[in-house]
Amino acid sequence: MTDPKRYLITSALPYANGLKHVGHLAGAYIPADIYARYLRAQKRDVVFVCGSDEHGTAIPIQAMKEGTTPQTIIDKYHQAMKEDFDDLDISFDIYHRTSSPLHHETAQEFFTKLNDAGELETKETEQFFDESTKTFLADRYIKGTCPNCGSDRAFGDQCENCGTTLSPDELINPVSTLSGATPIKKKTTHWYLPLGKHEQFLREWILEEHKDDWRVTVSGQCKGWIDGGLQSRAVTRDLDWGVKVPLKDADGKVLYVWFDAPIGYISATKQWAIDNKKDWKPYWEDKDTKLVHFIGKDNIVFHCIIFPIMLKLHGNILPDNVPANEFLNLEGDKMSTSRNWKLEMRDYITDFVKKENGGGQCVDMLRYYLTQIAPETKDSEFMWKGFQDAVNSELVSVFGNYVNRTFVLMHKLCGGKVPTLHEDVLDDNDKFLIAEIENTKAEVQSAIEYYHFKDALFQIIDLSRKGNQYMQKKEPWIVAKQLAENPAAQKQIDNSLHICLQLCANLAVLINPFLPNTAKKMLHMMKVVDKMLDWENAGKLKLLSVGYSLREPQLLFRKIEDTEIAEQIEKLKSGLIKPETNTKMETPKAETPNPKPEIVYDDFAKLELKAGTVTACEKVAKADKLLKLEVDLGAEKRTIVSGIALHYTPEEMVGKQVVVVTNLAPRKMKGIESQGMILTAEDSDGKLQLLKPENAVSPGSNVS
Ligand code: MF3
Ligand code: ZN
Repeated sequence: MTDPKRYLITSALPYANGLKHVGHLAGAYIPADIYARYLRAQKRDVVFVCGSDEHGTAIPIQAMKEGTTPQTIIDKYHQAMKEDFDDLDISFDIYHRTSSPLHHETAQEFFTKLNDAGELETKETEQFFDESTKTFLADRYIKGTCPNCGSDRAFGDQCENCGTTLSPDELINPVSTLSGATPIKKKTTHWYLPLGKHEQFLREWILEEHKDDWRVTVSGQCKGWIDGGLQSRAVTRDLDWGVKVPLKDADGKVLYVWFDAPIGYISATKQWAIDNKKDWKPYWEDKDTKLVHFIGKDNIVFHCIIFPIMLKLHGNILPDNVPANEFLNLEGDKMSTSRNWKLEMRDYITDFVKKENGGGQCVDMLRYYLTQIAPETKDSEFMWKGFQDAVNSELVSVFGNYVNRTFVLMHKLCGGKVPTLHEDVLDDNDKFLIAEIENTKAEVQSAIEYYHFKDALFQIIDLSRKGNQYMQKKEPWIVAKQLAENPAAQKQIDNSLHICLQLCANLAVLINPFLPNTAKKMLHMMKVVDKMLDWENAGKLKLLSVGYSLREPQLLFRKIEDTEIAEQIEKLKSGLIKPETNTKMETPKAETPNPKPEIVYDDFAKLELKAGTVTACEKVAKADKLLKLEVDLGAEKRTIVSGIALHYTPEEMVGKQVVVVTNLAPRKMKGIESQGMILTAEDSDGKLQLLKPENAVSPGSNVS
């Protein structure tokens, strides 16, 4: 879009169900922040919005896990995420939340307008229903045995154990997580957005109009969706947590979280406008507005297909670009909350930013590394060693060293003042560096405008590297020794330090959108006001006036020690970073996670438990978790399939005693009928141990 009047920048609204990790930061928040800061430095009219996504089943599920209410969960994580973004200097103009009344109204109005215009369809389907709690069950509320791996940690949408995507119908022995009851199928009506009707629009808009300016990873995914056939998508759910469907006869129904959440960008803009006495409408209705969504790749379909259709139908502008990022892995493995393989923003803040030698420089170090490794075109890797190298050998040794050297020499050789530039004695080295300053500005600017942030950052560091090389060639400290014989050499010294200082000022302007704390420190050293950071100043040689006295240098970055890196890797590997945040965040803690309702003795007595001896054991084909056991129970032998293969080998099982639930209805796993279940205890790290009599007992002994 050429010369937009105003910009609206959005970052994906994070779910308020847990703390976010550095993969989120690299994907949707840092790039958006760089872009917003760059536009502000250009004096553009820009609003940068975000907020917490507080609906969807993720919230009540987290509440169940933590033994508390959904409201408590969203309040806690909304606050925590807001603080984390703040601590990392993500400069949202507003961090809103979708539980606000303003958002509910906005989302309802949106739905009503589309529905009144006849753009939605209704359909009756059958869904799982829990009769004991009288609720329709969202996929996540149904648990059962995984048809793929046999784990009983499978949900209606996905198996936690093997990761397979599931639908509730595929689960073996589905039960409601609310009550433990076996759900029934019941009819229900929902509203659908018929995506298929808009196929032509999507093809023209994404695959033609934006064929050259959208990332291929983004348009490629969109093309896949479109070519695969666009199905109607339900935009309502049977749930009691969310934005109520604003219709009569829609009791117990809410808007689907993916319908209301992106509307959160609009309600956030509205709230920002109220707070700042501005008009929100042009930002969403005026074609002169450039709307850019920053997201991770898992959100592409919603931001490039579904939400644009909604925006079009509602009469809003469409995004000009959606520079989605791929994923960030950690130390060679996928980041995952359930496996606790992740680096939360909060962990970095605690271990670096809030430490004695931390602060703004540590914020900038993380921003630097995450930009350098940003998964712009493919998945990338966060390595602690890589972080250390980036900081020590680029920020400290190149950028920081350049600025420090310049200031030290200026104090030593030029009396602490900006020396004159003597045009008459400019040599090729001087001219080369002056030209590089101009070129770099143009390169950085164009890279940012194409959302190539890592490239832009590389150019800036490279400019400081050229500054070091220049200084090495000019050697003003050597020239200074010849002054006695050759007083004219002072002009050479003046020129090199003049140019070096102007380069420092330029570096501050260029680095500001990326590393705002570093830029601020440099301003302080140069004794200049914020205004110097205006983007239009970049590329110029006259940012500091001749004769102006500057402060002593401050170190811009400290080194990252080997021990710090070793500690982090150790912490990660030993799983010391706990996945859920109960302990870390000091919220009142429920007694046990996921408490089960109290039972009476008769409930317990329904179980038949016997001790038995394993007489044979083998692996189950095509199921890495399962073992098939023959168990001698005295009067009979039983075949039992058990998910312990990662913890015990078949050989070590033979001869062991186990406790078996013998009156459980038999069930088939991988085609084998399992005639009972053996008991195990699961340690907090997921390790399983068999439960068995202290000393051997005769097979078939009762357990009670
Ligand atoms: N909460 C979603 C996620 O974390 C993102 C929502 S983005 C919005 O994946 F557009 F819907 F707000
Ligand atoms: Zn599975």
